[in-house]
Amino acid sequence: MADARPFHWEYEEPPVQREAFRVEGGRPLRGEVPVSGSKNASLKLLAAATLTGERCRFTNVPEIADVHVMVETLRDLGVVVDHPARNTYEVAAGDVDWLFVPLEAAAKMRASFILLGPLLARFGRVIISNPGGDRIGRRPVNLHVEAMKRLGAAVSYKNGYYFAQAPGRLRGGQVDFPGVTVMGTENAMLAATLADGHTTIRPAAQEPEVDDLIEFLRAMGAEIVRSAPDTIEVEGRRRLRGADHRVIADRIEAGTFIVAAAVTGGEVTVRQAPAAHLGAFLEAMDRVGVALQRDGDTIRVRGSADPGAYRATDIETSPYPGLATDLQPPMAVLLSRAQGTSHIHEAIFEDRLEWLEELSRMGAAVEMVDDHHATLTGPCRLRASEVVMSDLRAGASLILAALAAEGESVIHGAHQVRRGYEDIERKFLDLGARIAHVSEA
Ligand code: UD1
Repeated sequence: MADARPFHWEYEEPPVQREAFRVEGGRPLRGEVPVSGSKNASLKLLAAATLTGERCRFTNVPEIADVHVMVETLRDLGVVVDHPARNTYEVAAGDVDWLFVPLEAAAKMRASFILLGPLLARFGRVIISNPGGDRIGRRPVNLHVEAMKRLGAAVSYKNGYYFAQAPGRLRGGQVDFPGVTVMGTENAMLAATLADGHTTIRPAAQEPEVDDLIEFLRAMGAEIVRSAPDTIEVEGRRRLRGADHRVIADRIEAGTFIVAAAVTGGEVTVRQAPAAHLGAFLEAMDRVGVALQRDGDTIRVRGSADPGAYRATDIETSPYPGLATDLQPPMAVLLSRAQGTSHIHEAIFEDRLEWLEELSRMGAAVEMVDDHHATLTGPCRLRASEVVMSDLRAGASLILAALAAEGESVIHGAHQVRRGYEDIERKFLDLGARIAHVSEA
């Protein structure tokens, strides 16, 4: 008898190129490193370009796997995406052949769900897979779906797919979220730009990447303002036009290199650092006692090789302008080197502390309290080990720990950091690190 299961149940992840990093640690990093364009901004900007049939041009887009997945997803829909130069992408969504975002796209990258709002608003319907490609937290998308319903869409769910429809146009409305959601806010505002009437989104996420998207939408002719810190208002337009945009710098990457300098006792100048977007992080660095010098968008870090030169501090992640959850893993590596006990409260995601188990294999004194709380007592002498990256930010942080540890570490799952860090090996090599990738085929 034929197997009656829907095809997607049989979906298997395509083989990713298995690579590991070998890192010989114990050397202070020295030199300069430029920060690339923001991953989280770029993904939404590329999706926003489908709101118009006219050409949009983006510069300072990082060459990372997640961007390449978004580009392939758009091309599969029939959108023309040109790549005239490194870090430059042009998107022309005049003809879209398919209003279908398959599981293959969603499984590789949860952020593909950002296509819901713009495709629904412009074409009146879309079928989009429920994403499951990210191992961080459970990451539901119910708030995105509720927001589309508030804007007049009918959304049903079957066999892993959302079927969204808005005959005619979406209608402006009041989108009230129960808490802050970054992509939920972005999906709602993208949809609202082409809806009929006025939309208010509250509480709206305040992340700088959301404001970068607002700036681009305004250049496209959208009527959209942040009328209060936590409120975004949109007056829908019938059409938007093409626009050019330079992507803001990646604050998470900047934070990662600042910690790299601190934990190796190095001296690093981080260029094109979006210092204005790093407030809570820089404050935490100050409490720990990391010497930083700011000069516009250049941050000079003078790390200390002296174990115990840094002080323990308590950190709690929260929506912007609070400390970014994406910077919790690098901060934890630093706190493992600090004198005393630090408490970590990961308030956003449930399993973002799980990676601390790998850090403890490298010698960090970690105590897990519950899914959201852990303590780290230092200063610990990190030791070279064989560890596995579970996700992007934990992956980068294991590299930092390996750079700080004496001896050679092997870190499996290098593809995780390639998702979000441009040229990570070259950047570390330029700072004098000993890092190489090895195939695990
Ligand atoms: C974005 C970022 C990610 C960052 C996170 C928090 C991108 C591509 N990713 O993820 O790097 O770590 O913000 O700053 O921009 N939630 C629900 N239902 C929903 C949506 C979210 O319950 O429909 C919950 C989440 O489980 C989480 C919280 O809301 O507990 C915040 O998540 P959210 O801000 O939506 O994260 P993302 O936008 O997915």
